[in-house]
Amino acid sequence: MRRVLGGFGVTRFGHIIVIGNEKGGSGKSTTAVHLVVGLQAMGFTVATVDLDSRQATLTRYLENRRRWQQKTGRPIEMPRHRVITAGAPGDGDPTPADATALLTETVAEMAATRDFVVIDCPGMDCRLARLAHSFADTLITPLNDSFIDLDNLADIDADTYEVLRPSRYAEAVWEQRKSRMMREDRAIDWIVMRNRLSSLDAKNKRRIDDVLWRLSRRIGFRLAPGFSERVVYRELFLEGMTVLDLDDGTGSALSMSQVAARQEVRALIDSLRLPGVGALAAAV
Ligand SMILES: Nc1ncnc2c1ncn2[C@@H]1O[C@H](COP(=O)(O)OP(=O)(O)OP(=O)(O)O)[C@@H](O)[C@H]1O
Ligand SMILES: [Mg+2]
Repeated sequence: MRRVLGGFGVTRFGHIIVIGNEKGGSGKSTTAVHLVVGLQAMGFTVATVDLDSRQATLTRYLENRRRWQQKTGRPIEMPRHRVITAGAPGDGDPTPADATALLTETVAEMAATRDFVVIDCPGMDCRLARLAHSFADTLITPLNDSFIDLDNLADIDADTYEVLRPSRYAEAVWEQRKSRMMREDRAIDWIVMRNRLSSLDAKNKRRIDDVLWRLSRRIGFRLAPGFSERVVYRELFLEGMTVLDLDDGTGSALSMSQVAARQEVRALIDSLRLPGVGALAAAV
């Protein structure tokens, strides 16, 4: 559908997916890279924006991927990528106003030419991340399976596990949803996914399940199946590869954990209900 991005007069067609959580280390960049590779494997065109110019994990991942492609000569799909530096007063950095304009133009231009734009946010509150949230058609918030991470979404009573009130990040998303609705008359589909799930801590898992379910109804997000704690989600960074790239047609069989990881990535993509995905998910 033809739409105007952020009221800035630039028409677009592509679907914008923002991966955000102000809590650091929750799995945003890991989710971003698996989502990008998964969507490309289905034949979609994808562009990526890294708003975490300091750590630049997504950027480094994609650089490693390009290097691996050159080294091995394998045809490996690459998204069109851009890193945008937050306007800081440092040498050579754009001013905050320039950075805002650059993000808006970049996303609009990418969305005009690609099926999906995936934006990886830093693990903190900043102007660019807030603006990016307001562009989201789909917002994915990965959450480590711990009450420390949950604290960023809601204040929970220690005795009863009742949700007392939404906390900072949930309120920030609420604000961006409002501003998006006023500007474009469109909702943001907010999805929370649990990450680094452990098979060992069943009691903690159940408690978090329960709190998240109640919270999802109270503050309006959907829960997606998450990723378990698996070495394969982190061991392929230096090659810029993911478990979806592993070739099971060349002799070495995938391990059970790798097969399960692939299923987790597919289940996540399925649950996002992205335009045009549906039946294609089975083909990854
Ligand atoms: N499901 C998982 N299994 C194993 N390791 C994981 C998993 N998800 C993430 N990790 C590891 O956890 C760490 C943090 O992940 P990642 O960098 O994706 O988080 P982030 O939210 O992008 O962090 P930041 O807020 O700093 O940008 C990394 O070392 C990553 O390899
Ligand atoms: Mg990151």
